[in-house]
Amino acid sequence: MPKDGPLNNELKQKLFSWIAIGAPRGDVVIEPIKPEPTFNSLEKTIFATKCIRCHSEGGPSPFYLNDRQNLMVYASVFNPFLFDFEFPEESDFVKRLVSDDPIEQMPPERSGISPLTKEEREIIIEWISKGLP
Ligand code: HEC
Repeated sequence: MPKDGPLNNELKQKLFSWIAIGAPRGDVVIEPIKPEPTFNSLEKTIFATKCIRCHSEGGPSPFYLNDRQNLMVYASVFNPFLFDFEFPEESDFVKRLVSDDPIEQMPPERSGISPLTKEEREIIIEWISKGLP
């Protein structure tokens, strides 16, 4: 859904923004929501459109980006280098976003999902530096 293929990321973000302002009827001007450095905001604005297809239940990765508790447990049990609060840019999480290795990079090139913008990466780095609120 819809008939001519899934919504692209821009349309999905518009849909999230429309729901966030209470799904008004009629013509409304929708400003895309700016991501804030909190899990709830990042989940709606970035993870939902670019990551969750693979990082949620039923996906190929056991590291979920729609469930903060899973994220915290996964980080402490499976990869202690995933988040570095002191040097956030050194976090494996961030390295995956900037990698140009087609195997390492997230989202993977073969997924056809556009890479994170510089602004999106910066807000994620800020979120990590604050301890993943
Ligand atoms: C097309 C599917 C797909 C998409 C989309 C995707 N990932 Fe992944 N990701 C995977 C798979 C599969 C793995 C596990 C294999 C690996 O480590 O490369 C993984 C691994 C990771 C890891 C490493 C976890 C660890 O154990 O160290 C991080 C971090 C990550 N992804 C972040 C993201 C983020 C952030 C996004 C969105 C911006 C994203 N991924 C989008 C499939 C995806």
